[in-house]
Amino acid sequence: MNIHALLVNRFNEALQEMGVENAPVPVSRSARVEFGEYQFNGAMALAKQLKQKPRDIAEKIVSIVKLDDIASKLEVAGPGFINVHLKDTWLANQCELALTDPRLGIAKSSPQNIVVDYSSPNLAKEMHVGHLRTTIIGDAVVKVLEFLGHNVIRQNHMGDWGTQFGMLLAHLSDKLQEEVAETALSDLEDFYREAKVRFDEEEGFADRAREYVVRLQGGDAQCLALWEKFIDVSIAHSEEVYDKLNVSLTRKDIMGESAYNEDLASVIADLKAQGIAVEDQGAQVVFLPELADKEGNPAVYIVQKSGGGYLYATTDLAAMRYRSGKLNADRTLILTDARQALHFKQTEIVGRKAGFMKEEQTYEHCPFGMMLGSDGKPFKTRTGGTVKLVELLDEAVERAGKLIAERDNELSEDELKEVARKVGIGAVKYADLSKNRTTDYMFNWDSMLSFEGNTAPYLQYAYTRVKSLFRRANVDIAALPVDITIAEKQEHALAVLLMQFEEVIGMVSRDATPHLLCTYLYDVASAFMTFYEACPMLKEGIEPNVRDSRLALCALVSKTLSQGLGLLGIETLEKM
Ligand code: ARG
Repeated sequence: MNIHALLVNRFNEALQEMGVENAPVPVSRSARVEFGEYQFNGAMALAKQLKQKPRDIAEKIVSIVKLDDIASKLEVAGPGFINVHLKDTWLANQCELALTDPRLGIAKSSPQNIVVDYSSPNLAKEMHVGHLRTTIIGDAVVKVLEFLGHNVIRQNHMGDWGTQFGMLLAHLSDKLQEEVAETALSDLEDFYREAKVRFDEEEGFADRAREYVVRLQGGDAQCLALWEKFIDVSIAHSEEVYDKLNVSLTRKDIMGESAYNEDLASVIADLKAQGIAVEDQGAQVVFLPELADKEGNPAVYIVQKSGGGYLYATTDLAAMRYRSGKLNADRTLILTDARQALHFKQTEIVGRKAGFMKEEQTYEHCPFGMMLGSDGKPFKTRTGGTVKLVELLDEAVERAGKLIAERDNELSEDELKEVARKVGIGAVKYADLSKNRTTDYMFNWDSMLSFEGNTAPYLQYAYTRVKSLFRRANVDIAALPVDITIAEKQEHALAVLLMQFEEVIGMVSRDATPHLLCTYLYDVASAFMTFYEACPMLKEGIEPNVRDSRLALCALVSKTLSQGLGLLGIETLEKM
């Protein structure tokens, strides 16, 4: 049920009846409860066209618009706003429909092919916090899109190719004289560091590294076998993180940079043939007057280095062509940190010029800010090193375990472990998801693990509260009559929120903004707590039909929370 869309429709019909065609139909949420739940504010803009005062136009619309079934009151306010107060009986009816529908009354969209490029770590090193946001946010976006019925194609564009692999493979080949790959690569950070030291300091090593690059790119079998060993162990490291995070990426979603190796020459040839790429100091570049600097110098986008080597950009052009042509992507969403924004802007311009995508296909870079430590600087270990994701996640579970053990609970040892895992991992994920992704965010254990405020533990706890209420009521919730009556203002407020789920999901799918879903669930949980205080269910003397109606609302709350948290990739618990 999408209230917003429904109101837009009805107001649009009214405008047409008044002879107004193709006018925008601005409907927004009201800022305060006194103003109802929604507001139509299009009357002001029509004043000129209709040569009438906005308030008169608003009155006219109120007299025409068909909202008797939905609204209890329409009032004209201020310069010509129309406030819409939703009707209790209608809300109750919509809640009943949602409760009896496995999709909670949320309609599917007309399905699109949507590529989501996320996580995409560089395999030369261990996954670090820089890849946390893309992995978590990407996975939530994917789940929301799938829920809406889209055909989502996950693309893990792993950095598994490029010159640094020469150095790594030369080092690995030496190490394999004494140990197996798994041991040699058990700590990728250390391995990388050792290789780099040798590259910088050891006589002849750099030359060997370069030789390896040439051999690798030339398809030398022995070199490829070594590369595969490296990649395999490194992917296993990422999988350990995916596993702990409970994200949906699997091996079949990997389409790393190496997968485009064969396409790169033809990308360049095509760009040259179309006169888009030109030679400049031995390199192949595209000049972009669209992105000129203040002096009018066009931006320079390099697609091939002077020695003939290809770049990150070349691979992204190949990926664009593949996703458009082979995967038939209506939309492509790419989640990386904001520092890559210019790269993707340039890639889109060049790719579109070259016809690598169709006009109607979208290319949406979804940037996010950095994760900062409590000192406001990029998140690092105490000694200034990069924080390994695996260790960070283990710490989260450990901290959650301690906190829960301190609380009043009746959990067995095993249950406590499970709760600690769900709460700890949930907290890390939610902390990330709940912030507007475009800004930097500060990593803080205490606030993310708090049971108060907009956190995973708070929402998980709210969910268990509904569940424990059901246990105490000692009724089979599924067998309860679905007959909801809304009488109290707390019930009204809760019902309105519950009916806004679809609207929120729609926004998340459009803009890749899971934080809106977080805020929404937090609002639902808070409205539930308020309702719970004000509207008793298990008290002596409560009429059975009132009790059942309230329990039905609670059932919808619990379904909404678990569905919403599920889309965010956060697990719920029966008790904690
Ligand atoms: N591997 C890159 C990094 O770690 C991210 C790749 C994102 N996707 C892409 N198509 N370029 O920064």
